[in-house]
Amino acid sequence: MRTELLPVSPESLARAGELIRAGQLVGFPTETVYGLGANALDEGAVRRIFEAKGRPGDNPLIVHISDLAQLPPLIAAEPGDTARRLMAAFWPGPMTLIFPKSDRVSPVVTAGLDTVAVRFPAHPAARALIDAARRPIAAPSANRSGRPSPTTAAHVLEDMDGRVPLILDGGPCDVGLESTVVDLSGAEPRILRPGGVTREMLAAAAGGATVDPAVLRPLGEGEVARSPGMKYRHYAPAGELTIVTGAEAAVIRAICARYDAALAAGRRPLILALEGHLPAYGDRRALSLGADAAGMAHAMFARLRDADALDADVLFSEAVPTDGVGLAVMNRLGRAAAFRIVEAEGDA
Ligand code: TXA
Ligand code: MG
Repeated sequence: MRTELLPVSPESLARAGELIRAGQLVGFPTETVYGLGANALDEGAVRRIFEAKGRPGDNPLIVHISDLAQLPPLIAAEPGDTARRLMAAFWPGPMTLIFPKSDRVSPVVTAGLDTVAVRFPAHPAARALIDAARRPIAAPSANRSGRPSPTTAAHVLEDMDGRVPLILDGGPCDVGLESTVVDLSGAEPRILRPGGVTREMLAAAAGGATVDPAVLRPLGEGEVARSPGMKYRHYAPAGELTIVTGAEAAVIRAICARYDAALAAGRRPLILALEGHLPAYGDRRALSLGADAAGMAHAMFARLRDADALDADVLFSEAVPTDGVGLAVMNRLGRAAAFRIVEAEGDA
């Protein structure tokens, strides 16, 4: 199959809408990461998503809507109070809500679960595509399974060339990390996957919010993931990544020492650091993660892809505090590192 890469325009959106209606796949931009879309109501089309990504069939998809009127047919009961508050505060935007599903939603979409994940994206091209298709669109991130999520159309092409007929190029994504996935089955909203809508924001809108314990640690033996995506190793660079936490100067010292030892052992080390710290690493090979947690959310997946392109076989990354969007950053970075996190010794 030949893959076309087209800038977002009325013509390319119309063509993309036709492809979706015909059961084909389209790569498209959202404010979080690029998605790989198919008609959510066409089981055959949805199966193609799993094939193109190499995605395990037990990892459910998010259904994207561009109008609140598209929600009732997908869900089994009226949204409750908390859901309505969160929808009013954060839709359209980078938040996905889990609802009991209606019979219209195929178990292929939900991987056999009796719930469905729904998101109303803010990106104008994503909304225009759903409008053009005149159907809700099921879409995971447009990476091959196990690779970092794509934040540019070039990343999508890297992973999907020859596997999809069309990729819409809408430039780099704003947030850079996938949406916040929120379970509504308990008394308080529970974050299954942190994202751009932070715990603090959810708590302010809903009067409280809890974070699933699996967000910042690996699943225990025999533990069932509430969000099936959490049980897979994600966002993985080819090299072995270690995260170093602690006081600023101690972190830089520890990373330098580990880097130098790796180099002396004949390895190809690489450092991922906050922009302001780069000079402290001297002539060691280091890439910038941006100025702060928001910058890191934006840059992280692209830097993990760069690390592979540079053939780094051992990586050391700085960390950020886990408040605000820092929680999402440390969740993704933790998974990329298979939760290899070490504390640097010493304090200043
Ligand atoms: O920002 C995003 O959410 C992007 C863009 C394209 O919208 N999409 C995305 O999809 O990240 P994906 O497939 O890469 O991640 C979906 C996550 C997975 O962790 C999956 O397990 C979880 O949502 N999920 C989907 N349906 C679920 C359900 N019914 N219950 C619990 N978790 C669910
Ligand atoms: Mg994904």
